[in-house]
Amino acid sequence: MKTRTILVTGASRGIGRALSDRLANNGHVVVGVARGRDPTFPGELVPIDFGDDGAAAGALQALTKRYSFDGVVNNVGMAKLHRLGEINLSDVEEMLRLNIHSAILTTQSVLPSFMESRWGRIVNVTSLVTTGTALRSGYAAAKAALNSLTRTWAMELAETGITVNAVAPGPTETEMFRRNTPAGSEAEARFLSTIPMRRLGKPEEIAAAIAFFLSEEASYITGQVLFADGGGSVGALQSDSLWCEPHMERARLLSAAMASRKSRERQDTSVPLRRLRVAIAKKGPPEVHDKAAVLTKSCPVWPRFCSKT
Ligand SMILES: NC(=O)c1ccc[n+]([C@@H]2O[C@H](COP(=O)([O-])OP(=O)(O)OC[C@H]3O[C@@H](n4cnc5c(N)ncnc54)[C@H](OP(=O)(O)O)[C@@H]3O)[C@@H](O)[C@H]2O)c1
Repeated sequence: MKTRTILVTGASRGIGRALSDRLANNGHVVVGVARGRDPTFPGELVPIDFGDDGAAAGALQALTKRYSFDGVVNNVGMAKLHRLGEINLSDVEEMLRLNIHSAILTTQSVLPSFMESRWGRIVNVTSLVTTGTALRSGYAAAKAALNSLTRTWAMELAETGITVNAVAPGPTETEMFRRNTPAGSEAEARFLSTIPMRRLGKPEEIAAAIAFFLSEEASYITGQVLFADGGGSVGALQSDSLWCEPHMERARLLSAAMASRKSRERQDTSVPLRRLRVAIAKKGPPEVHDKAAVLTKSCPVWPRFCSKT
């Protein structure tokens, strides 16, 4: 296996750190970027703050004079949550700076050495939230832009030996995730309700997907977004595997209510949950809804639907 030199942003913790450990264990040279210092980092960890575009650009230029990079992972990112009515534009700008400006500046700094060697790997870390997650206006917009940059750069660089891909993690157990989603919280239950595997991802699992795109073998893949998300992007609402016993009981109640309406469509218990919810809210007999609501109180999955009925 050829030894490569890889630049990883946001490398000191979470996904970036798991990736750095993995790459170093596989014999690659890892240069990490973060604000803090960590003597246990498996390579050089360079202090750069992406909160300041000008200073970050200068520091990256200096770094590329010391290393000839083969790959870059634009992993640094941050999320602030807000509802539509409460969006604070300075928060949006901060998210764009951390998620987008950082990726552009970092990639621009390594591009000359990639072009010279006619080989390179660019991997952007985006997110499952681009498929639609409440409270993520600014964050999802920034990550969707990064998906778009992935495709644009893939087109521009397609004939150069440089590939550009993205990995979109689902909820992954890191400090960033825990800042907004404490263990055991309703927010965590809501997240898990959308993940067919019904568990959080591990940083190492996301790192494995990124490492694949960095590998020699991934040479014919470019412009792709790979969701590493426990199935979250496939459609949690349609997944029968989400149905715990209270769900099943609720479905049985619904089925009985619908059968009484003599509608062929509504007799079908495989009708997507969204339609079942609407049916409860608008047409289901109140006693059925009440009983189903009580039944589902103990379930970590159902409140997502029940609270809206
Ligand atoms: N965790 C999830 O559930 C999840 C899901 C989808 C996507 N993602 C994405 O995956 C990526 C990694 O997330 P994570 O959960 O591993 O994050 P994390 O645990 O919070 O780690 C963030 C890393 O970025 C560095 N960093 C933060 N602000 C920085 C700044 N201004 N300048 C330079 N470095 C900075 C941190 O080090 P310092 O604090 O020392 O600077 C740290 O190394 C992010 O792009 C995130 O949006 C995460």
